[in-house]
Amino acid sequence: MSIKLRKLPDASFGAIVEGLEPSETPTEEIVAEVRAALAEHVLLVVRGHRPPSDAELVRFAGGFGPLFDGGELFGIASPTREILRLTSERNELGVETGPSSATPLPWHTDYSYLPCAARETFLEAVQLPADGGGRTWFADVYDAWESLAQTIHDRLDGLVGIHSIKGSGRHLNRDERRAARAGREVKNPDFTYPGGRVPARHPLAHRHPDTGRIALYVNSLVAGIEGWDPDDADSLIEDLIVHATDEGRVYGHAWEVGDLVIFDDIGTIHRRDPSDRDQIRTMRQLSTMLTDDGLAGAASVTVSTVGGARPG
Ligand SMILES: [Fe+2]
Repeated sequence: MSIKLRKLPDASFGAIVEGLEPSETPTEEIVAEVRAALAEHVLLVVRGHRPPSDAELVRFAGGFGPLFDGGELFGIASPTREILRLTSERNELGVETGPSSATPLPWHTDYSYLPCAARETFLEAVQLPADGGGRTWFADVYDAWESLAQTIHDRLDGLVGIHSIKGSGRHLNRDERRAARAGREVKNPDFTYPGGRVPARHPLAHRHPDTGRIALYVNSLVAGIEGWDPDDADSLIEDLIVHATDEGRVYGHAWEVGDLVIFDDIGTIHRRDPSDRDQIRTMRQLSTMLTDDGLAGAASVTVSTVGGARPG
């Protein structure tokens, strides 16, 4: 198998992938090809393949490294331990059968509120509303870093962001907050943020372990900067998020059923538009672990007991 890449039209990054079959066991060569494609394009949209079963999807994503127990972290049953099933489908009691996929999410990267954050995420559309549902937006935060002046690099290099699930909703706009509030009425009561709300530490200037490329690792989960006054940190974080999400480095993915989007969680941040929660929107999500983010003491891979988790 050899994959074919076509740059996404009207986007500054990303590529459409053909010839990749996630239902098949990935060989070392395929993993290397996909990783090389991710290194070049940061985000890959896989289309035209046979839909993988749950077990096949776990086997495929697992070929890229240890996976989070995404299906167990949130207190609601998922098809497998590794697959986080995000859905607006409701049960006979009228509550969503999984973590919601209709509620808006602010800019984030997956699992950065844990000591071991995500390295790459595999997000697949299983069922969508008639209008396709809300888009998922991605920003290229390698470009965000590289477009900053050297003086800013010097200022940011070595700073440590404190990532926490708590308070990230402050980055939603007014309409999104209204949609999020409405979502609470149908939220599954079993939904939990596992392990409490212990914050995690990650560098603001985040170097990819393979490529050495540096990303601006800032998003709505960054609640502070180590050693900084909270107001000064808030102000800088806000400025950096605005910079990182400048429309010139943002791509909004309009989902089609079966799309599998694979993205680099270091080099991108993403957010989700709200969807009509009276229609079913179901996604399968898996993430590999970033077992070393370059910070001494922050490389623990105990993921199911620490931090407050939020699905993506
Ligand atoms: Fe996410």
